[in-house]
Amino acid sequence: MFFIFDNNIILDTLSNARKEKFPSSLSVFDFIINESAHTGFISSSSIDNLEFVLYSEIKTTLNLERKITNKLVELAIMNLLDKVEIAKTPSYMEIDFDDIEDSQVVATARAIGAKLITRDKGIINKHHDIAIHPDNFFDVVKQEEKDIPFLDLKEINMQHFNEYEKAFDNVMKSGWYILGKEVEAFEKEFAEYCGVKYCIGVGNGLDALHIILRAYGIGKGDEVIVPSNTYIATWLAVSYAGAKVIPVEPDIRTYNLDPKLIEEKITNKTKAIIAVHLYGQPADMDAINTIAKKYNLKVIEDSAQAHGALYKGRKTGSLGDASGFSFYPGKNLGALGDGGAITTNDDELAKRIRILRNYGSEKKYFNEVKGFNSRLDEMQAAFLRVKLRHLDEDNNKRKEIAKNYMENIINENIVLPYVPEWADPVWHLFVIRSTKRDDLQKYLSENNIQTMIHYPIPPHKQKAYSNMNNLSFPISEQIHEEVLSLPISGAQKRYSSENIIRYLNLFEI
Ligand SMILES: Cc1ncc(COP(=O)(O)O)c(C=O)c1O
Repeated sequence: MFFIFDNNIILDTLSNARKEKFPSSLSVFDFIINESAHTGFISSSSIDNLEFVLYSEIKTTLNLERKITNKLVELAIMNLLDKVEIAKTPSYMEIDFDDIEDSQVVATARAIGAKLITRDKGIINKHHDIAIHPDNFFDVVKQEEKDIPFLDLKEINMQHFNEYEKAFDNVMKSGWYILGKEVEAFEKEFAEYCGVKYCIGVGNGLDALHIILRAYGIGKGDEVIVPSNTYIATWLAVSYAGAKVIPVEPDIRTYNLDPKLIEEKITNKTKAIIAVHLYGQPADMDAINTIAKKYNLKVIEDSAQAHGALYKGRKTGSLGDASGFSFYPGKNLGALGDGGAITTNDDELAKRIRILRNYGSEKKYFNEVKGFNSRLDEMQAAFLRVKLRHLDEDNNKRKEIAKNYMENIINENIVLPYVPEWADPVWHLFVIRSTKRDDLQKYLSENNIQTMIHYPIPPHKQKAYSNMNNLSFPISEQIHEEVLSLPISGAQKRYSSENIIRYLNLFEI
């Protein structure tokens, strides 16, 4: 949760006399600063006034030289800013002339969706929906902590609030919003991150896969091997290109394409294999690449769920001929809207993709082919550059939660994920299985734990593929009936994971 401290609370934490008189201010301040699940802010509008009051208080109590007093004030503010973040007072605030300072703090809190910690009775009465007196703080927090959401995107993104704000300002003031410096810089940084020569930003993950197929000239009359167990976008990309999807069943342990079952599906029409790194776990790429080489097929990775995952020490996105990424907000590397990218080491392919994503044009108003409008936009690229800097740290937090789940969920009715020794997954999702999946989900929900199902209906049973509804893919069907995704994210609190483990261990069939 996010909290803004009114100046009266900050001052309470700085002088001994105030600490004694208002002890709850200090305990609330310390709790917020030390609890990683919460972030404390000060409104940018408060700093000037804080400096003024501190100066007067030190002058009256200690009566020191002006220079020394100034230094003490500076140190106190520097020390405070080590602990709290500054939140910018919004330009669209409404000024309340009864108390301009209060209206600024309230506007700042509302702008970032924070609660305001204050002892000011006037604010509490007028803004009781967001203002909390420190004496009531712990009751409010306890109530909020009861619910465990599946994924709190606000919490995840607000961790980088200040960096986003700067990124927004930079793009806004640049006056250049499509295919500019931010996209170029992100493409370079993400290519480096994945360990490939090229990254080309596109509109979303589905377009990324579709454009790769188009760039290879795969279309009508061609067949593409896809996992029967995946998010439907993998299939849709093939269908958009005009080719036929040839589903292959997964390994029930990893939920990823089973290489042993690929060869029997290859015909003289097969042009490519799309390997999905589902739930953040890499597919068995060496085995897949060996088959592709034998039959001269392209290998396309669907890395939409696996930013940063490693296969035998190598990053996803560098393991096939080309790879599609999604930056949908819920992904490990998620934007604040749609976004996608293609990575490859193939010079010619990269060139064709750059043309295809931009109306089939390399030079403005000269169109070589009938291309698409599918470009990663400047604002999303700027936000993604912020997120990319924190991706490994965020993935490591996911790994810690996964380790905790793996070591401590002990219930024979629950199947935990299986990680082959060559895989270093990034846990986009932590997926368990149970033959009583629906009961389990209901039970967790009754205990305020939100879970999700990825995915309830396999692609071949969807209405969109009604021509395939009568086919049978029993492993996929079993997976779709039994899987349940537990909450996992870089912003997840330790107590949430502990609670989830406790309830799972108490679940009885
Ligand atoms: C495995 C997989 N492939 C492709 C996509 C498509 O990505 P996007 O939503 O950005 O189009 C997704 C997104 O959910 C996905 O999970």
